[in-house]
Amino acid sequence: MVDDRTWLEEHSAESLRRLLPRIEARYRDSIDPVEWESYASRLRRHFPPLFACLYGLYGARYDFFYHLEGVLACATEMWLARPAELKALDALRESDPLWYTSNRLVGATCYVDRFAGDIKGLRDRIPYLAELGVTYLHLMPLFKSPKGDDDGGYAVSSYREIDPLMGTMEQLAELATELRHHGISLVLDFVFNHTSDEHEWAKRALAGDKEHQAYYRMFPDRQMPDAYERTMPEVFTEDHPGAFTYQPRIKRWVWTTFHTYQWDLNYENPEVFNRMLGEMLFLANQGVEVLRLDAVAFIWKKLGTNCQNLPEAHQIIQAFNSILSIAAPAVVFKSEAIVHPDEVQKYIGLHECPLSYNPQLMALLWEALATRDVRVLQTAMRHGFALPDGCAWVNYVRCHDDIGWAFSDDDVRTVGFDPVEHRRFLNRFYTGRSPDSFARGAPFQEDPRTGEGRVSGACASLAGVEMALAEEDEAELDLAVRKVLLIHGVVILIGGIPLIYLGDEIATLNDYDYDLDPETAGDSRWMHRPTFDWERAELRRDGSTVPGRVYQGLMRILQLRGQNLTFARSETEIGETGNPHVFGFLRSGGESVVFVLANFSERTQKLEARRLRQMGMRKTMVDLHAGRVITATQELEIEPYQLMVLTRVG
Ligand code: GLC
Repeated sequence: MVDDRTWLEEHSAESLRRLLPRIEARYRDSIDPVEWESYASRLRRHFPPLFACLYGLYGARYDFFYHLEGVLACATEMWLARPAELKALDALRESDPLWYTSNRLVGATCYVDRFAGDIKGLRDRIPYLAELGVTYLHLMPLFKSPKGDDDGGYAVSSYREIDPLMGTMEQLAELATELRHHGISLVLDFVFNHTSDEHEWAKRALAGDKEHQAYYRMFPDRQMPDAYERTMPEVFTEDHPGAFTYQPRIKRWVWTTFHTYQWDLNYENPEVFNRMLGEMLFLANQGVEVLRLDAVAFIWKKLGTNCQNLPEAHQIIQAFNSILSIAAPAVVFKSEAIVHPDEVQKYIGLHECPLSYNPQLMALLWEALATRDVRVLQTAMRHGFALPDGCAWVNYVRCHDDIGWAFSDDDVRTVGFDPVEHRRFLNRFYTGRSPDSFARGAPFQEDPRTGEGRVSGACASLAGVEMALAEEDEAELDLAVRKVLLIHGVVILIGGIPLIYLGDEIATLNDYDYDLDPETAGDSRWMHRPTFDWERAELRRDGSTVPGRVYQGLMRILQLRGQNLTFARSETEIGETGNPHVFGFLRSGGESVVFVLANFSERTQKLEARRLRQMGMRKTMVDLHAGRVITATQELEIEPYQLMVLTRVG
């Protein structure tokens, strides 16, 4: 890392002075002078930080300047190939760069095949998404990938080809356009830590091609793998021990952090950076508006470290982000860092990832449901919710992955729990191994040596709907539905983009058949990734059914957020409710203030009215959620698992 700023500024300016005319000359014939001027001005603006990152990563190489020119050539070529409608979107977004922080944004996520069969089927389902108010649609990877095991598409064999069962790249681009015309932004993964072992580069590497072997991290014997493994935790413990897989054909140990067929790319090689840049901009040019950066924590490796969250990983993302701002400025990054909360925060910034999953909130909502105690949640959100200006969380209760207990040990200790014991308790609770649990979940990647593990399960099953239905217990069922709505209520109202895993809005339950299908057996995450049940979705209009109760309850909260200006780009402050079972936060924007209260216990709770007044409320308030006026002179009562959205009258 070079920290001499003046030196960097001078050399960045000089490099651009040399490079820009060369690039201009190279593409002269295809350049429109007016468009070029706006492109060149973005290039001038974003080149200094780009140069600083690339110099830090690759500046010590004799051929640095060659690669730098390659980066600019690739960016320019891809910008020239960018469709006119997307260039218009680029211009539009420049006038509203923080578009993704609007309370108009409602996210949903799904597997195309499981939700709608294929891309064509998905187009037919746009009315369903529109009815729900979805404006941000994350499709799980649908690229060409190995038959059979492909980690749900996260083993990509080509970034430019779609799995033929789902359609073609042309269809995907058309879908992106159609979604946009319905006000929905398409979100796709950029799976950039690894490719599948069937990617063209991996195939060439396997055939002995040295150039492509250098795209990955390979070792002739166990010496280096052993040395790395000494300080690295395992990620997919059930799949293979350690992080390496032996390839007998080339007699090499290949770095495979996740599954044996997912080969980690070697970003120490600038060629890899440049090639992946091309793939990223190709996706941007298909009409993707948000790129979810998969597995960001793992992209750089260094001996003697845990090989996660290294400074170079940030530099790579920042460099990609600068290029995006030059060649496809309408697109923003969202980081997928499911790591310690302090590390999650480090990926978030306008210069890196303006959007990020909020895995801590997700985990702590489940933690609070299990313990009926919101103190860890409250402590963690107090110091961990605020983000830099212009950045936003993507808040969720469930996604396609497992629930990992990615919260900070210190926060757990503050409340007096032992972190190791607490995680064990949560695992037992959510995998149905504790007698007083309402949850039906399954363990994921459990390590019998340490007893550590994560949890799989659909939202409704984890919240108690499945058990209550099995036991035909109406009262429990009512509480379970309230729990589903309570945690969704928090993610919808707390600030940021709420992300619904499609199926959760109709209280879809666990799918136990995943273990019968050889392609999904053994990976319990498939339990909460069932085929979308369209018959169940029909019940959404019938308020006497469970799907109907959940759907209509969710719609109510979503509409409340969409229609109330307090939720538009307002601040969030975590409140002190004075009751360990009630979580509270304040949303304020301009003149208006809303105080959201969430009771995480099955008992009615009381709040001192003076606490509410401390938070700016008055004696008489309106609960926007229930649609009624409340007067709290001494105390406020809040029902089991009730969500209240209080505002002042008048
Ligand atoms: C991310 C994905 C997960 C996948 C892993 C490897 O964490 O969300 O599903 O297994 O990356 O690509």
